[in-house]
Amino acid sequence: ANPPRPALQATDKNSFAYITAKKRWPEILEKVIDDIYKTTNSLGSLEVDKIQEGKRIADSLTELKYQIQQKRPLIPIDTSGAPDIGTYNYVLNTYFNGENWYSATWLFAECYLYRRIHSTLAETRYWRSYDPYFRQKEDSFRASFATIIEIAKRIDELISVPNMNADNRDRETDGIVFHELAQISLWGNATDLSMLTNLSFDEVKELQSSGTKHMEESEKNILVNDLAKVWEWILKCHNARIDLILDNAGFELYGDLVFADWIVQSGYAREVHLHAKPIPWFVSDTTRRDFDWLFQTLQSDDFFSFTSELEKLSLKKLASRWQSYIVNSQWIFTEDYFWTSPYSYWHLAEQAPDLYADLCKSQLVIFKGDLNYRKLVYDCKWETTVPFKEAIGPLTSLKGAPPILTMRTGKSDLFVGLEKGVEEKLNTVDEGWMYSGKYAVIQFSERT
Ligand code: F6P
Ligand code: MG
Repeated sequence: ANPPRPALQATDKNSFAYITAKKRWPEILEKVIDDIYKTTNSLGSLEVDKIQEGKRIADSLTELKYQIQQKRPLIPIDTSGAPDIGTYNYVLNTYFNGENWYSATWLFAECYLYRRIHSTLAETRYWRSYDPYFRQKEDSFRASFATIIEIAKRIDELISVPNMNADNRDRETDGIVFHELAQISLWGNATDLSMLTNLSFDEVKELQSSGTKHMEESEKNILVNDLAKVWEWILKCHNARIDLILDNAGFELYGDLVFADWIVQSGYAREVHLHAKPIPWFVSDTTRRDFDWLFQTLQSDDFFSFTSELEKLSLKKLASRWQSYIVNSQWIFTEDYFWTSPYSYWHLAEQAPDLYADLCKSQLVIFKGDLNYRKLVYDCKWETTVPFKEAIGPLTSLKGAPPILTMRTGKSDLFVGLEKGVEEKLNTVDEGWMYSGKYAVIQFSERT
């Protein structure tokens, strides 16, 4: 099925897609190149082969940047043996033959870009598993220290209530906690490193703390908030399986896991399945390595500049509880190439039938972040008042489709399900409101 609207494209000069192709992609590539040089510069003279190869990678990426700037046609990706390249080249040849970085759909061109960057590395001897965004992810996580500690204290308070089990809980209080933690997870999405080319680091931090300090104020910026309905649904489910389609590593992942922690610990969910990307993706998306790294980092004595033993202990305690969820299969980590394919989620059932069948066993599938939102609604030019359920197409209409929840801060030319008049009003306040990261939606589609 295809949506009844044209796709977002960077040919539209008034769009964020255009700003992205023109300005953000080249900047993102420059950062990758810079990162590779930082690494080669840190290598000793014994590693001359790796250094040489690093220089060749940097040259290829510079060439890639040039191809974008020159609006060259997209070319097949040549990679031997990678399981997902066939899909990319098939979609390219079938739908975008002869198209360039602007005239192909924004969604395809952007996924294709990140896939090209990955294959430039994957084709090499010494850099095949190198993550060129890792340094950025690490730096930004370190910079989020204050909020990380604050949240760790909060979750500790919430979890260490004595004599509380799944049967004697106060539903009303739990409802409030659920809202609070969901919002921490939501605003964590503002910390997307691909946006650092637009926002300053301080602005991102300000958005980050939306989930904690100014909760009430930032609630006004949630343009649709279906959390109350979701909470009702969770209460009905008893012991649910919840799936989280993860987005960014570091601070956002931390907030997502705090949410997953409470929901398991309080007995509302029996298990949480965490879905990550199999390759480094859209700068900051979570991979297996980022996930493992988070656990190590929370247990490290010197990654953060702790000011007390207590702070150190609070993170260790958190990490060891999380570790126990993994060991007991209450948290199940998985990855799938569908999440890094160029396909929108309208094609989920047909392109990844096993994944889809598995998700259908879930009582709630939560899609975090902007790219997931774009893929849910097919990244096209919907009117902002089109109902969310209509915009996600087969994910509502297919028999057996699981309940879908999206939590995202807006970073693309795309909002659906808004009340009449909201768009017009916001246009008068801030013409870039859709992609500023300052407005969010929490939208729910129940099981049909
Ligand atoms: O346009 C901003 C952007 O880089 C999009 O390309 C993408 O949809 C999004 O940000 C990634 O954000 P998130 O990490 O929230 O998916
Ligand atoms: Mg992301």
